Amino acid sequence: MRSRARRGGLPLPPGPLGIPWLGNVIGLDVAQPWVTYTKYGEKYGGLVYTKLLGQDLIVINDEEVAIELLERRSAIYSGRPVIATNELFGMDFNTGLLQYGPHWKFHRKLFHTALRAEAAQSYDQLQMSKARQFVRSLAKSPERFEEHLKTLSASIIMAITYGYDAQPEEDPFVEKVEQLIGMFLTALTPERAALIGAIPFLAHIPSWMPGGRYKLRANECRELAQKVLSEPYEFVKQKRAEGTAKKSMVSDLLDAEHSSKEVSEYDMEKEIMAVATTVFLGGAETTYSSVYTFLLAMILYPDVQRKAQDEIDQVVGHDRLPDFADRPNLPYIEGVLRETLRWHHSTPVALPHATTDSDVYKGYYIPKGALLLVNLWAMTHNPRQFASPELFMPERYLDSPGHVAEKPFSHPFGFGRRICPGRYVADGSVWATIVSVLATFRIVNAKDGNGESIEVKEEFLSGLAVRPKPFRCGFEKRWNGVETILGD
Ligand code: HEM
Repeated sequence: MRSRARRGGLPLPPGPLGIPWLGNVIGLDVAQPWVTYTKYGEKYGGLVYTKLLGQDLIVINDEEVAIELLERRSAIYSGRPVIATNELFGMDFNTGLLQYGPHWKFHRKLFHTALRAEAAQSYDQLQMSKARQFVRSLAKSPERFEEHLKTLSASIIMAITYGYDAQPEEDPFVEKVEQLIGMFLTALTPERAALIGAIPFLAHIPSWMPGGRYKLRANECRELAQKVLSEPYEFVKQKRAEGTAKKSMVSDLLDAEHSSKEVSEYDMEKEIMAVATTVFLGGAETTYSSVYTFLLAMILYPDVQRKAQDEIDQVVGHDRLPDFADRPNLPYIEGVLRETLRWHHSTPVALPHATTDSDVYKGYYIPKGALLLVNLWAMTHNPRQFASPELFMPERYLDSPGHVAEKPFSHPFGFGRRICPGRYVADGSVWATIVSVLATFRIVNAKDGNGESIEVKEEFLSGLAVRPKPFRCGFEKRWNGVETILGD
């Protein structure tokens, strides 16, 4: 433990007392640690220090602190924890896990080239057509909405990244990447990562020893990661050679000009593959979770659903489906989107950061190498900023009827240099889906054998992204002729 003398006499930020080694892991709600961290925040404030399995852990619970540290002092607060399993599992290509430095900056440049706001807009029509495909699938088999949602999120990402039309079921590329995520998830959450960080020899044991099964799993994961990286990339190259490649992130990056320094420093193909695979890892499940959360909110808040549909009816009518050109005229839908991303955030503690140097904030010592959790949940559920934060209220984003307020928004995509580079794509995909579903269907409780409504609960599951516990619901067509407008 760092002595006070070594800290220049400065105290660490307040927090629950740490027991060396085991720290305060007992008492942590492992299924939803952000709830425990938020309680710490209520007791100790916006910046909390504790120990997790012998590791310094700092939790940021407050938006102002986040802006100060992650934005104004971003050079110190943009690292990632060193986690032996990333390399062991062959996941060290992932932009989100790269250490702060030139390699990570180069990845961010590739993201900027391909998915910055203007570039992301070029995928509007693609996103809208996938959202309408989703609505058509709902019309045919509403009871399979979960599968359709999975197809939607995977197919948007595969189309944007590789110009590839994913099959609705058993798509060979999608299946492999989902299998990869499943294998890696066991080691990804910050709490598990801290555990593995605390027991680094796990990375070195031979596969025949106790715990060796873990290592065999890592070998399998590494082999699978190689396939996931190269196979869809080779697909794009083949299509380009045939002259039939569709617009995509990979194609744009192959066409982009890179400086001679970058070309000599990096294996360009390897980096493009890495960034492209990161898009699936970062984008598919978060999009899926967000739309799923929206569906849950619409069942639990029928009045919100009705207001949203009234707005669409007034602006769009029933002769056509809404499009991106309607977006400025649909402020309430904007509120529904923002509230979807706030109410039950899909990544409530973002991705773990690490400090790359020591620092002093408001008289508190922040150690170098501390694990840093950005508790977006605490910020999006701060009652001073969001009255009755547990309620789904799109109105909170409208400062006068029909006008979207500049503030408050809840930083659903994080802060500073590590802010989500897929935020423009995510925003477009979720908006297109929300507006298309609301225009065409009433989302209602499913009925049991006796015709009684099946109750739906506000319950969530953790994973790569937090998503609602599976529930059943119904989709009723909102007007005669929906099918004609939807087409085949
Ligand atoms: C609703 C959907 C999404 C949400 C809520 C979301 C949210 C976030 C958050 C909170 C972070 C962590 C920021 C930090 O480390 O402080 C993040 C990182 C990241 N996201 Fe997203 N994201 C979404 C969709 C996407 C999409 C569609 C992509 C890809 C196109 C993407 C790619 C990434 C990447 C690569 C990172 C890591 C950035 C880095 O470490 O530099 N995300 N996202």
